[in-house]
Amino acid sequence: MTMRLSGKSALITGSARGIGRAFAESYVREGATVAIADIDLARAEKTAAEIGPQAYAIALDVTDQASIEAAVAAVEARTGGLDILINNAALFDLAPIVEISRASYDKLFSINVAGSLFMMQAAAKSMIARGKGGKIINMASQAGRRGEALVAVYCATKAAIISLTQSAGLDLIKHGINVNAIAPGVVDGEHWDGVDALFAKYENRPRGEKKKLVGEAVPFGRMGRAEDLTGMAIFLASAEADYIVAQTYNVDGGNWMS
Ligand SMILES: NC(=O)c1ccc[n+]([C@@H]2O[C@H](COP(=O)([O-])OP(=O)(O)OC[C@H]3O[C@@H](n4cnc5c(N)ncnc54)[C@H](O)[C@@H]3O)[C@@H](O)[C@H]2O)c1
Repeated sequence: MTMRLSGKSALITGSARGIGRAFAESYVREGATVAIADIDLARAEKTAAEIGPQAYAIALDVTDQASIEAAVAAVEARTGGLDILINNAALFDLAPIVEISRASYDKLFSINVAGSLFMMQAAAKSMIARGKGGKIINMASQAGRRGEALVAVYCATKAAIISLTQSAGLDLIKHGINVNAIAPGVVDGEHWDGVDALFAKYENRPRGEKKKLVGEAVPFGRMGRAEDLTGMAIFLASAEADYIVAQTYNVDGGNWMS
């Protein structure tokens, strides 16, 4: 099969590990050059070295405007221009409504929402100036489709991502920039190890139990794996998705239907 992202330049936020890393690996296999952009630069460098010469690490804090602009400039300098952005970096937290702290709220909205918005803005400016269009993929979640008793803030950030994907998608398509989103369900990995630990604390469960339960509840029959999401990420970044605008696609083993 011909490579679907041959010669493309991609920036994936939060790709030192987890789903972002799997995206980076799959993009490189499809012929793209990928910036592993993460706040954990040491791990981003290790990940890039493991992926190979088409991956390179850059330091990025999506809550810092100067860092965002420097990251996009670094991609332009290295590859001649940005074709694909995946807004993947995000933070999770969990607390009942009466215990939510302002610090947690501010941090989650700053990374998950403002981080994605201002990365979209910087990428769009770069893509518009170059005049070749582009693809932007935001990471939403089933959490953005409905609230959850203990997950109010994270759910709200992901609902905001679905909304920003719609608005940015409608605004940027006139420049040939497609903005769409992926809504995963429950994906195993270091992220969910942390989620499981928080549920263990607030629902008074043994460690590992929540993970087992959510996996069993997936219609497909198991938790997702990062690799389950790469097909959609490649498709949305490819020319085959040129007519797809402002959508959020569930890739969740059947957890949510919309
Ligand atoms: N894992 C799941 O079950 C699941 C489900 C639905 C949606 N998602 C979404 O998928 C995306 C990836 O999830 P994951 O499970 O791979 O997460 P993860 O926690 O494993 O990875 C997140 C990465 O983001 C980086 N990061 C954190 N703050 C940053 C910042 N300020 N600037 C730049 N990078 C930063 C981290 O260093 C880390 O490498 C997230 O948007 C998440 O909300 C995950």
